[in-house]
Amino acid sequence: MTTTAIIGLGNMGKGLAKRLAGKADLVLSSRNLDTVRSFAATLPAGVTVLDIDAAIDAAEIVVLALPYDAAKEVAAHPALAGKIVVDISNPVKPDFSGLAIGHTTSAAEELQAAAPAAKLVKAYNTVFASVFDLPATQTAKVPVFLAGNDEAAVAEVEKLVAASGFAVEKTGGLDAARLIEPLGMLNIRFGYGLGRGTAIAPTWQTL
Ligand SMILES: NC(=O)c1ccc[n+]([C@@H]2O[C@H](COP(=O)([O-])OP(=O)(O)OC[C@H]3O[C@@H](n4cnc5c(N)ncnc54)[C@H](OP(=O)(O)O)[C@@H]3O)[C@@H](O)[C@H]2O)c1
Repeated sequence: MTTTAIIGLGNMGKGLAKRLAGKADLVLSSRNLDTVRSFAATLPAGVTVLDIDAAIDAAEIVVLALPYDAAKEVAAHPALAGKIVVDISNPVKPDFSGLAIGHTTSAAEELQAAAPAAKLVKAYNTVFASVFDLPATQTAKVPVFLAGNDEAAVAEVEKLVAASGFAVEKTGGLDAARLIEPLGMLNIRFGYGLGRGTAIAPTWQTL
């Protein structure tokens, strides 16, 4: 089974870990391992807790469940070479008024530049963390928008998304993150700015 490491156990990392525990060979890590161990103890057995270096070494897929700036730091880790790296970030400005980067680049492409030998895949950025706590039956048709240049890596992340209880909407190469990240920002605007709450997610309809 493909070993997946989640680096960062905040709202998103925990949500994804809860969905994947028992369904994937899962390694959890963050900068404070005591809190990671406490959280792992709440999950079904079989989840491994390792420091960030060891987690990256152990995994074929590394999910950076970190704020964009922290993800960029971790992306520079040389051991990520050859690994599938999943970027879930929305590079929002500190005051949440908009995205800090976009149009001619994206967080995913900047992380790819920081980790040139890794296989970057954009995923999950349009899914609010609280959505992971809903029953999987309720999210089976909620799309996770994927973008990546390496088709085999995207196919592996598709399997991970399915295991986590979501549908997949493939958007093409990594430059599509320039479009998916503003979609994540629109979701934030709907959820918080326009008061619709976080039990929402964008979907694409064929009419
Ligand atoms: N929340 C959402 O609904 C949502 C939805 C879609 C996408 N996203 C994206 O998902 C990512 C994570 O969001 P989140 O809501 O889970 O954030 P969060 O709850 O603030 O958790 C962030 C995690 O990153 C760790 N971290 C922060 N700075 C770090 C650093 N310099 N080095 C190592 N670890 C560091 C934190 O560790 P400590 O616990 O030690 O502070 C924490 O585990 C973000 O990029 C966000 O844009 C979030």
